[in-house]
Amino acid sequence: MKQQILTYLPKDFPWANQFHTYQTLDSTNDLAKKMASQGAPHGTVILADTQTAGHGRMGRAFHSPEGQGIYMSVILRPQCQATELMHLTCAAAVAVCDGIQSALGFRPNIKWTNDIVYNKRKLGGILTELSIRTGSGPVDYAVLGIGINCTQQLSDFPVELQGFVSSLAMATSEKIDRARIAASILKALYAMNDGLLDQKDAVIRQYRRDCITLGQEISLVQGDVVAHGRAVDIDSNGALLVAFDDGSTRFVQSGEVSIRGMYGYI
Ligand code: BTN
Repeated sequence: MKQQILTYLPKDFPWANQFHTYQTLDSTNDLAKKMASQGAPHGTVILADTQTAGHGRMGRAFHSPEGQGIYMSVILRPQCQATELMHLTCAAAVAVCDGIQSALGFRPNIKWTNDIVYNKRKLGGILTELSIRTGSGPVDYAVLGIGINCTQQLSDFPVELQGFVSSLAMATSEKIDRARIAASILKALYAMNDGLLDQKDAVIRQYRRDCITLGQEISLVQGDVVAHGRAVDIDSNGALLVAFDDGSTRFVQSGEVSIRGMYGYI
């Protein structure tokens, strides 16, 4: 996979010498965090052909069958405070959409905050994990974990997922070259990182355009509490502004947001 990806990248791609590819890992994010804590440099890329314990937000499993998806983590070392990176997952989601669009000619949507979707079905997701040096101080590293369903047909997914998922092959009816898509996403992530701190407003503007959650009736689950409302805006940090059915309005930065009529939420 490494050699194939390199054929789709410019010869001088700055992260090209920092690719680590594996046939099987428990989770590319877990290895990335271990490598980052041992000093792996900014721009280290970890890819696996399959994951035995791939996971997403809220501890959910990410189905990672061999050779059928992209399972990749990138270590970033932004020189800033954690409070300046609240929008990182949004920026990464926009970059993943950019990468898929430039490789395949269609643009997926984003379901707040980190799901990549097409036709209301999940194509993949992003798991961002941040390590901070002291208290709320400077960032030590960020790991961006990206999982994209590539070549699967519906019957390749576990039955319990079949109502909610899709793949790039299902979305395009094309033969999908995972290396080409991974290279395209990496180029977009590199560009995203370049503008991470000084092009924040433009990134959030694009996120709002890509985000299918806006304007929808949603339910928010935070611990044991479930609240219903309408998603009305996204702020400059990527928080979701929700007008709740009880008349209150507030920004939501955490928790699980479901869209009415999507992924089985009726
Ligand atoms: C989500 O759906 O909440 C995010 C899914 C993120 C999955 C990717 S696959 C590569 C990396 N390794 C992991 O264990 N998770 C991410």
